[in-house]
Amino acid sequence: MIKGVILAGGLGTRLSPLTKVTNKHLLPVYNKPMIYYPLMTLVRAGIREVMIVTGGNNAGDFLRLLGNGKAFGLKEIRYTYQEGEGGIADALSLAEDFADNGKVVVILGDNIIEKDISPIVNKFKRQKEGARLLLKRVSDPERFGVADVRGKKIIHIVEKPKRAKSQLAVTGVYMYDGGVFSMIKKLKPSQRGELEITDINNMYINKGTMEFDVLRGFWSDAGTFESLLRANRLVSQKGKG
Ligand code: G1P
Repeated sequence: MIKGVILAGGLGTRLSPLTKVTNKHLLPVYNKPMIYYPLMTLVRAGIREVMIVTGGNNAGDFLRLLGNGKAFGLKEIRYTYQEGEGGIADALSLAEDFADNGKVVVILGDNIIEKDISPIVNKFKRQKEGARLLLKRVSDPERFGVADVRGKKIIHIVEKPKRAKSQLAVTGVYMYDGGVFSMIKKLKPSQRGELEITDINNMYINKGTMEFDVLRGFWSDAGTFESLLRANRLVSQKGKG
Protein backbone atom coordinates (compact mmCIF):
# COMPACT_ATOMS: atom_id res chain seq x y z
CA MET A 1 0.00 0.00 0.00
CA ILE A 2 1.24 3.43 -0.95
CA LYS A 3 2.01 5.67 2.04
CA GLY A 4 1.40 9.36 2.60
CA VAL A 5 3.58 12.09 4.12
CA ILE A 6 2.24 15.47 5.22
CA LEU A 7 4.84 18.19 5.65
CA ALA A 8 3.68 20.53 8.39
CA GLY A 9 6.87 22.09 9.72
CA GLY A 10 8.33 25.55 9.34
CA LEU A 11 7.78 28.67 11.38
CA GLY A 12 5.07 30.19 9.18
CA THR A 13 6.77 33.56 9.42
CA ARG A 14 4.74 34.98 6.52
CA LEU A 15 1.67 34.66 8.76
CA SER A 16 3.14 36.28 11.85
CA PRO A 17 1.65 37.15 14.39
CA LEU A 18 -0.92 34.38 13.74
CA THR A 19 1.91 31.85 13.97
CA LYS A 20 3.62 33.35 17.01
CA VAL A 21 2.09 30.85 19.42
CA THR A 22 0.90 28.06 17.16
CA ASN A 23 1.81 26.12 14.06
CA LYS A 24 0.51 27.44 10.73
CA HIS A 25 -1.11 24.10 9.90
CA LEU A 26 -3.35 24.29 12.96
CA LEU A 27 -4.90 27.62 11.93
CA PRO A 28 -8.52 27.53 10.78
CA VAL A 29 -9.55 27.26 7.15
CA TYR A 30 -13.29 27.93 7.30
CA ASN A 31 -14.58 25.24 9.69
CA LYS A 32 -11.56 22.97 10.09
CA PRO A 33 -7.90 23.16 11.11
CA MET A 34 -5.74 23.57 8.00
CA ILE A 35 -4.08 20.15 8.26
CA TYR A 36 -7.43 18.36 7.97
CA TYR A 37 -7.57 19.24 4.27
CA PRO A 38 -4.33 17.58 3.11
CA LEU A 39 -5.10 14.67 5.42
CA MET A 40 -8.53 14.22 3.86
CA THR A 41 -6.99 14.50 0.39
CA LEU A 42 -4.75 11.53 1.19
CA VAL A 43 -7.52 9.50 2.83
CA ARG A 44 -9.83 10.09 -0.16
CA ALA A 45 -7.05 8.79 -2.39
CA GLY A 46 -7.08 5.51 -0.47
CA ILE A 47 -3.97 6.13 1.64
CA ARG A 48 -4.18 4.54 5.09
CA GLU A 49 -0.70 5.06 6.52
CA VAL A 50 0.42 8.62 7.05
CA MET A 51 3.42 10.33 8.58
CA ILE A 52 3.17 13.91 9.79
CA VAL A 53 6.43 15.83 9.74
CA THR A 54 5.97 18.80 12.00
CA GLY A 55 8.32 21.38 13.48
CA GLY A 56 8.35 24.83 15.01
CA ASN A 57 5.77 25.74 17.61
CA ASN A 58 3.28 23.53 19.45
CA ALA A 59 4.18 20.30 17.66
CA GLY A 60 2.44 18.32 20.42
CA ASP A 61 -0.90 19.82 19.40
CA PHE A 62 -0.92 17.64 16.26
CA LEU A 63 -1.16 14.57 18.48
CA ARG A 64 -3.98 16.16 20.48
CA LEU A 65 -5.80 17.02 17.26
CA LEU A 66 -5.26 13.88 15.17
CA GLY A 67 -4.65 11.22 17.83
CA ASN A 68 -3.98 7.80 16.35
CA GLY A 69 -5.72 8.73 13.10
CA LYS A 70 -8.56 6.21 13.47
CA ALA A 71 -11.21 8.95 13.40
CA PHE A 72 -9.97 9.85 9.90
CA GLY A 73 -10.03 6.27 8.64
CA LEU A 74 -6.29 5.73 8.98
CA LYS A 75 -4.66 2.46 9.89
CA GLU A 76 -1.60 4.21 11.24
CA ILE A 77 -0.38 7.73 11.85
CA ARG A 78 3.19 8.57 12.76
CA TYR A 79 4.71 11.82 13.86
CA THR A 80 8.20 13.20 13.56
CA TYR A 81 9.81 16.57 14.18
CA GLN A 82 11.93 18.68 11.85
CA GLU A 83 14.52 20.76 13.65
CA GLY A 84 15.28 24.18 12.18
CA GLU A 85 14.20 25.52 8.82
CA GLY A 86 15.90 23.07 6.47
CA GLY A 87 13.30 23.18 3.71
CA ILE A 88 10.78 20.79 2.20
CA ALA A 89 13.29 18.19 1.02
CA ASP A 90 14.94 18.15 4.45
CA ALA A 91 11.53 17.57 6.07
CA LEU A 92 10.82 14.73 3.66
CA SER A 93 14.15 13.05 4.49
CA LEU A 94 12.74 12.30 7.97
CA ALA A 95 10.24 9.91 6.39
CA GLU A 96 12.88 7.57 4.96
CA ASP A 97 12.37 4.67 7.39
CA PHE A 98 8.59 5.11 7.28
CA ALA A 99 8.63 4.86 3.47
CA ASP A 100 10.63 1.63 3.65
CA ASN A 101 11.78 1.91 0.00
CA GLY A 102 8.19 2.13 -1.23
CA LYS A 103 6.43 4.87 -3.17
CA VAL A 104 5.13 7.90 -1.25
CA VAL A 105 2.56 10.62 -1.87
CA VAL A 106 3.83 13.79 -0.24
CA ILE A 107 1.58 16.78 0.40
CA LEU A 108 2.34 20.15 1.91
CA GLY A 109 0.27 20.79 5.03
CA ASP A 110 -1.01 24.12 3.71
CA ASN A 111 -2.29 22.87 0.35
CA ILE A 112 -6.07 22.85 -0.05
CA ILE A 113 -7.35 20.77 -2.97
CA GLU A 114 -10.96 20.49 -4.06
CA LYS A 115 -10.94 17.34 -6.18
CA ASP A 116 -10.33 13.70 -5.38
CA ILE A 117 -6.80 12.90 -6.56
CA SER A 118 -7.33 9.10 -6.60
CA PRO A 119 -7.15 8.81 -10.41
CA ILE A 120 -3.74 10.51 -10.35
CA VAL A 121 -2.46 8.42 -7.43
CA ASN A 122 -3.62 5.31 -9.30
CA LYS A 123 -1.65 6.39 -12.35
CA PHE A 124 1.40 6.77 -10.14
CA LYS A 125 0.88 3.30 -8.69
CA ARG A 126 1.05 1.94 -12.23
CA GLN A 127 4.12 4.06 -13.07
CA LYS A 128 7.20 1.81 -13.04
CA GLU A 129 9.57 4.32 -11.48
CA GLY A 130 10.24 8.00 -11.00
CA ALA A 131 8.03 10.81 -9.81
CA ARG A 132 4.76 12.53 -10.63
CA LEU A 133 3.70 16.13 -10.04
CA LEU A 134 0.39 17.93 -10.02
CA LEU A 135 0.46 21.24 -11.84
CA LYS A 136 -2.16 23.96 -11.68
CA ARG A 137 -2.74 26.86 -14.03
CA VAL A 138 -2.61 30.07 -11.99
CA SER A 139 -2.59 33.81 -12.62
CA ASP A 140 0.32 34.49 -10.23
CA PRO A 141 2.90 31.77 -11.06
CA GLU A 142 5.84 33.79 -9.72
CA ARG A 143 4.78 32.83 -6.18
CA PHE A 144 5.48 29.14 -6.85
CA GLY A 145 7.70 26.62 -8.54
CA VAL A 146 6.91 27.05 -12.25
CA ALA A 147 7.05 24.23 -14.80
CA ASP A 148 8.28 24.68 -18.36
CA VAL A 149 6.28 22.08 -20.27
CA ARG A 150 6.88 20.79 -23.82
CA GLY A 151 4.20 18.38 -24.95
CA LYS A 152 3.85 15.65 -22.37
CA LYS A 153 7.09 16.43 -20.53
CA ILE A 154 8.22 18.98 -18.02
CA ILE A 155 11.62 20.13 -19.19
CA HIS A 156 12.54 22.29 -16.19
CA ILE A 157 11.15 23.83 -12.99
CA VAL A 158 12.22 27.20 -11.66
CA GLU A 159 11.47 28.06 -8.05
CA LYS A 160 9.74 31.45 -7.73
CA PRO A 161 11.03 32.91 -11.02
CA LYS A 162 11.12 36.68 -11.59
CA ARG A 163 9.45 36.08 -14.94
CA ALA A 164 7.55 32.82 -15.26
CA LYS A 165 7.85 30.81 -18.48
CA SER A 166 4.34 29.43 -18.07
CA GLN A 167 1.31 29.73 -15.84
CA LEU A 168 1.73 26.18 -14.58
CA ALA A 169 2.50 26.24 -10.86
CA VAL A 170 3.90 23.16 -9.14
CA THR A 171 1.40 22.34 -6.43
CA GLY A 172 2.45 20.87 -3.10
CA VAL A 173 1.57 17.29 -4.06
CA TYR A 174 4.63 15.24 -4.97
CA MET A 175 4.72 11.53 -5.72
CA TYR A 176 8.09 9.79 -5.49
CA ASP A 177 9.54 6.33 -5.79
CA GLY A 178 11.83 4.97 -3.09
CA GLY A 179 14.85 6.52 -4.78
CA VAL A 180 13.98 10.01 -3.53
CA PHE A 181 15.77 9.60 -0.21
CA SER A 182 19.18 8.88 -1.69
CA MET A 183 18.64 11.84 -4.03
CA ILE A 184 17.93 14.15 -1.05
CA LYS A 185 21.28 13.10 0.44
CA LYS A 186 23.02 14.53 -2.64
CA LEU A 187 21.37 17.96 -2.31
CA LYS A 188 23.22 21.11 -1.33
CA PRO A 189 21.39 23.95 0.44
CA SER A 190 20.09 26.72 -1.82
CA GLN A 191 20.83 30.43 -1.44
CA ARG A 192 18.10 30.66 1.18
CA GLY A 193 19.82 27.84 3.09
CA GLU A 194 17.18 25.17 2.39
CA LEU A 195 17.15 21.78 0.68
CA GLU A 196 14.80 22.56 -2.19
CA ILE A 197 12.17 20.13 -3.40
CA THR A 198 12.47 21.85 -6.79
CA ASP A 199 16.06 20.54 -7.03
CA ILE A 200 14.79 16.99 -6.42
CA ASN A 201 12.10 17.45 -9.07
CA ASN A 202 14.66 18.72 -11.59
CA MET A 203 16.80 15.63 -10.90
CA TYR A 204 13.86 13.39 -11.84
CA ILE A 205 13.22 15.55 -14.93
CA ASN A 206 16.86 15.16 -15.99
CA LYS A 207 16.60 11.39 -15.55
CA GLY A 208 13.51 11.41 -17.77
CA THR A 209 11.29 9.79 -15.14
CA MET A 210 9.08 12.73 -14.17
CA GLU A 211 5.41 12.61 -15.18
CA PHE A 212 2.68 15.14 -14.45
CA ASP A 213 -1.02 15.88 -14.47
CA VAL A 214 -2.82 19.21 -14.50
CA LEU A 215 -5.15 19.52 -11.55
CA ARG A 216 -8.82 20.38 -12.01
CA GLY A 217 -10.93 22.16 -9.43
CA PHE A 218 -9.62 24.71 -7.01
CA TRP A 219 -6.22 24.61 -5.37
CA SER A 220 -4.76 27.07 -2.93
CA ASP A 221 -1.82 27.25 -0.63
CA ALA A 222 -2.46 29.07 2.64
CA GLY A 223 0.90 30.36 3.75
CA THR A 224 0.32 34.07 3.25
CA PHE A 225 -2.52 36.33 4.41
CA GLU A 226 -3.90 36.58 0.87
CA SER A 227 -3.75 32.86 0.14
CA LEU A 228 -5.14 31.96 3.59
CA LEU A 229 -8.10 34.27 2.99
CA ARG A 230 -8.55 32.81 -0.50
CA ALA A 231 -8.46 29.24 0.87
CA ASN A 232 -11.11 30.19 3.46
CA ARG A 233 -13.32 31.70 0.75
CA LEU A 234 -12.98 28.73 -1.60
CA VAL A 235 -13.77 26.19 1.11
CA SER A 236 -16.68 28.16 2.55
CA GLN A 237 -18.23 28.71 -0.90
CA LYS A 238 -17.96 25.00 -1.63
CA GLY A 239 -19.59 24.27 1.74
CA LYS A 240 -22.56 26.40 0.73
CA GLY A 241 -22.74 25.16 -2.85
C1 G1P B 1 6.57 25.55 -1.92
C2 G1P B 1 7.46 25.06 -3.06
C3 G1P B 1 6.92 25.57 -4.40
C4 G1P B 1 5.47 25.16 -4.57
C5 G1P B 1 4.63 25.60 -3.37
C6 G1P B 1 3.24 25.01 -3.43
O1 G1P B 1 6.70 26.94 -1.79
O2 G1P B 1 8.80 25.51 -2.84
O3 G1P B 1 7.69 25.04 -5.46
O4 G1P B 1 4.97 25.73 -5.77
O5 G1P B 1 5.22 25.18 -2.13
O6 G1P B 1 2.44 25.39 -2.35
P1 G1P B 1 6.51 27.69 -0.37
O7 G1P B 1 5.04 27.69 -0.07
O8 G1P B 1 7.29 26.90 0.63
O9 G1P B 1 7.04 29.06 -0.60
